[in-house]
Amino acid sequence: MKRFLIAMACIACMIAAKAQRPDNTNYTESKVLPYSLPDVLKTTKQTSIRNKADWELNRPELLRLFEDNIYGQMPKRFDDIKFSLIKEDKSAMQGRATLKQVEVEVFNQQKSVKINLVLFVPNNRKQAVPAFLLINNRGKENMDPTRKEKTGFWPAELVIDSGYAVAAFHVSDAAPDNKDTFMNGVLRLYPEQFEAANGMRAIGAWAWAASRIMDYFETDADIDAKRVTVVGHSRAGKASLWAAAQDQRFAICVSNCSGNTGAALSRRNFGESITAINTSFPHWFNTNYKQYNDREQELPVDQHMLLALIAPRPLYVTNASEDLWADPTGTFLALKHAAPVYGLYGITNELPAKPPKINQPILNTHLAYHNREGIHDLTSYDWQHFIRLADLRFKK
Ligand code: GCU
Repeated sequence: MKRFLIAMACIACMIAAKAQRPDNTNYTESKVLPYSLPDVLKTTKQTSIRNKADWELNRPELLRLFEDNIYGQMPKRFDDIKFSLIKEDKSAMQGRATLKQVEVEVFNQQKSVKINLVLFVPNNRKQAVPAFLLINNRGKENMDPTRKEKTGFWPAELVIDSGYAVAAFHVSDAAPDNKDTFMNGVLRLYPEQFEAANGMRAIGAWAWAASRIMDYFETDADIDAKRVTVVGHSRAGKASLWAAAQDQRFAICVSNCSGNTGAALSRRNFGESITAINTSFPHWFNTNYKQYNDREQELPVDQHMLLALIAPRPLYVTNASEDLWADPTGTFLALKHAAPVYGLYGITNELPAKPPKINQPILNTHLAYHNREGIHDLTSYDWQHFIRLADLRFKK
């Protein structure tokens, strides 16, 4: 019965996602009109960025452009934070892992919000282990602490058996994914954000919550908080990018099928557009972003600059071949256009001129990419490669 209800819910989601798609969506490469991107090596005052120091000096200004025009402010201050171990099971996964369910409660302005973390740590560890943190935007069955439900969306056993801790929290704890109720979470701590045209909205709240989990990791002796990979799929892949851009404690960022206002270039106007996303999901981005409906060219930034904000840390963006809505080619191009900033750190760009073939991951680089065969989803194929990238980058 439960599986039937989940299947029905998935079908309803797919119908809803399709219904949001406008008729004039472009899915044809030859119909992409010429566009010019803002230069990632120019400051916000249009002077040249020649080296790492120039980049780092301008970095806060660039972050501010993303805050003001797209994702909203990221409040850093709060009154208090409390971590409570709600449940611990040292013999989870047939003895291979320890389960910790942690409630992260953050207090501000006489209000509090609780983010529930599900965390498994491998038992055959000799020291603190690196971790993967999933920002879960799908059903909670994907992060089942009992492991009765197992899905490719969060294949916890695979990650544990590869020697990593694996964690997840659900976006609804931080901001319900609904235009009428998204303020019933983190926004309650920051009511002034709700009023501001450049204030935090749902995607900002999800990224903020990922940082609070990082605050927890820094206190857990089993976790190597300097080697945490933040992972997000689709809408949560937009949030994983924003989290890693904002919070440089994340060592690696993975963004899967994140598409428009995620890892894909907006100015290509291929697949989902800014108008479409703002119309269907008005609660994801700030009020100012609505000014750019049908006016991508006027944005002071494009998404390659968000990817560049993650430099010099490894970044893995991935797509699915049938998911043209999320523009796989535009995602690959955004990564390429972010590469000059990695170059300032002496990290050479290993990316080919054209997107690689389907199922041919590019992993031996800080700017990793793959386009998996199949539909819009996060699968064990994707995770196997995230693990390989972490192995390579952390030299495990
Ligand atoms: C919709 C939306 C996308 C989003 C996706 C998802 O398709 O238009 O921007 O990435 O949902 O989160 O699955």
